[in-house]
Amino acid sequence: MSTILHIDSSVRAISNDNPSHNSISKNIAHRFIESWEQAGSIDEYIYRDVGINPPQFITQDWIGAVFTAENKRTVAQKQLLALSDTLINELVVADIIVISTPMYNYGMPAQLKAWFDQVVRVNKTFDFDLNRGDFPLQPLLSGKTLVVIASCGEFGFEAPEIRAKSNHLMPHLRTLSRYLGVETMYEIMSEYQEFADSRHQASLKQAYQRAQTLAQELAGDQQEKQGSILTV
Ligand SMILES: Cc1cc2nc3c(=O)[nH]c(=O)nc-3n(C[C@H](O)[C@H](O)[C@H](O)COP(=O)(O)O)c2cc1C
Repeated sequence: MSTILHIDSSVRAISNDNPSHNSISKNIAHRFIESWEQAGSIDEYIYRDVGINPPQFITQDWIGAVFTAENKRTVAQKQLLALSDTLINELVVADIIVISTPMYNYGMPAQLKAWFDQVVRVNKTFDFDLNRGDFPLQPLLSGKTLVVIASCGEFGFEAPEIRAKSNHLMPHLRTLSRYLGVETMYEIMSEYQEFADSRHQASLKQAYQRAQTLAQELAGDQQEKQGSILTV
């Protein structure tokens, strides 16, 4: 079984009249999905473009609804949580999560953060117990694989490179991935977009290749697992 939840988050479209405006992260992520389809099968594919259709920001009333016991929620509170319920259900059924993201102001786009705020929810994706001491939060989901595909304009964001301390994108996603039930995470990053030079072309090429080979590897693993389940 492979159920893929694919979240794109650039505000740029995958295809524009002027191709130089096309989202790089979205195009690499779509190459990943195409490569998976060629190498194996996808049982269910759930797609959201939160860059173009952003989830609502959470509000004080939303928090109030979350902290009201399920059987005590008013109709209005249930409605307030309806989007969150839908997004969480999409996450729960997924075993592979693909998130594509630009780097905006050294972090993730607000639209993607809005998705996380709707999805990382007490008693749904994590629970909270002070008996656990200094680490009261515990994820409720497990066993998922996350593939992050990112694009940035500058370069050198991984330690010990020159902008490692400015990278608030990947470290944030690594921290949050735990609350999606992620146990294995892969990262693909295309850099140098703003320089528009040969370094950008090389980085882009490498990111597309990595997306393709990773999709082939993961789709192959999935088929092997399916085969061994069938022969047990
Ligand atoms: C609002 C905005 C903020 C950006 N901030 C950064 C940044 O902090 N660091 C960086 O390296 N690139 C930054 N960039 C460049 C983007 O990361 C780059 O254009 C990337 O390719 C965008 O992803 P996309 O092609 O999928 O839309 C920014 C671009 C925009 C539009």
